[in-house]
Amino acid sequence: MDKLIIEGGARLKGEVNISGSKNASLPIMAAALLSDEPCVIKNVPDLRDMHLMLKILRALGAEAEFDKGKVTICAKKLKSYTAPYNLVSKMRASFCVLGPLVGRLKKARVSLPGGCIIGVRPVDLHLKGLQRLNVAVSVSGGYVNASVKDLKGGSIYLGGEFGSSVLATANVMMAAVLAKGKTLIENAACEPEVADLANFLNKMGAKITGQGSPNIEIEGVRSLGGAEHKVIPDRIEAGTFIMASIITRGSIVIKGAVYQHLSVLIDKLEEAGVTVEKNDGYIYTKSSRNKFKPVNITTLPYPGFPTDMQAQFMSLMSVTPGVSVVTEKIYPDRFMHVAELNRMGAHIQKEGPHAIISGVKALSGAPVMASDLRASAALVLAGLVAKGRTEISRIYHLDRGYELIEAKLQKLGARIWREKE
Ligand code: EPZ
Repeated sequence: MDKLIIEGGARLKGEVNISGSKNASLPIMAAALLSDEPCVIKNVPDLRDMHLMLKILRALGAEAEFDKGKVTICAKKLKSYTAPYNLVSKMRASFCVLGPLVGRLKKARVSLPGGCIIGVRPVDLHLKGLQRLNVAVSVSGGYVNASVKDLKGGSIYLGGEFGSSVLATANVMMAAVLAKGKTLIENAACEPEVADLANFLNKMGAKITGQGSPNIEIEGVRSLGGAEHKVIPDRIEAGTFIMASIITRGSIVIKGAVYQHLSVLIDKLEEAGVTVEKNDGYIYTKSSRNKFKPVNITTLPYPGFPTDMQAQFMSLMSVTPGVSVVTEKIYPDRFMHVAELNRMGAHIQKEGPHAIISGVKALSGAPVMASDLRASAALVLAGLVAKGRTEISRIYHLDRGYELIEAKLQKLGARIWREKE
């Protein structure tokens, strides 16, 4: 296994290009199962999770190639409707092949994703949505079995106790595009990645409106053709680099991100006394000597503060004088990074879904362990500003969501490199 070594203290300067969105690419690749014609998906980041999804698509019988960010998928001859446990258990997001398999083959057998380090990952909303489309759903032996004679549109309220669900909205949308009649999804996820999926489906011939809002309408069609699509930029990667620049008191230019996808982060950073500017397609942070102010955040479905940026924000608050509170409303257990940040000298106390952070003057480098994708990013940010050397082990978590992160950070002047563990 690899580990990342960081010598803290460098102020980041320069330009960084944001990669395509991991969380838009995954359901869009699954959506290619809905057509027997080839689909070309561009700006796909070269990440482990992408290659895992391609493996699943090939196991189902699709041809699937990855060539320098361009993915070509042809699901003309599907030979299976089963997504096996050994693949789904490696990446929970592969559960989003359920909807397209039901849409295309009218049957599917997909392993339950199981829980992970950030919490239990229930799928009740996915199953409820499919049942509202007249799909018979049963769970046995750790698998979801779904089958339907005639897929019928219906009205579905898809909100759960934690609000809307990104991949449940994706699964239901991908089943409904080939259903007879109209489907209305209420309390749908509004994330830009869901809207990007809907835009790709519409290029394939689907009739979806309302994407990006809580009410999505889908007029079923008989079949879908192939399509070409460029995936939106990764807003979580962009937010991570903005915070890397701020925590190191640097000034970087972020190229290729969508400013509007980052509104809540930029609003919170401005509350902390940091200016984030934008100018024809660029976002840039100006280094400032002013003291940051402590800021409270609560994670919510989009356009609220994203849970995928909570850990990184916590690193920033760890070195901000004063007391701030991070409340995690999407995954209440998503605090694995707290213990590791405290090993680096942070003062963070966990109280249920809250983390109370008392800012310290400086963090000190230490050997720490990555636990989930975004917690790993938080440890990188902490390492960039800590005094001394930080060694982050188990960084395969990081490689799932950040393309070439150490190369991009090195280019910005960070003293960071990878070693074999
Ligand atoms: C997506 O996961 C993202 N993954 C996650 O990013 C992200 O953290 C999450 O959305 C929330 O924004 C991908 O897009 C591949 P949810 P998803 O269904 O769709 C509960 C990362 O780091 N829920 O929106 O699986 C659930 O437990 C990953 O890139 C139900 O109760 O998340 C959670 O509390 C981590 N029943 C909340 O809803 C369900 O049927 C939101 O989960 C489904 C979800």
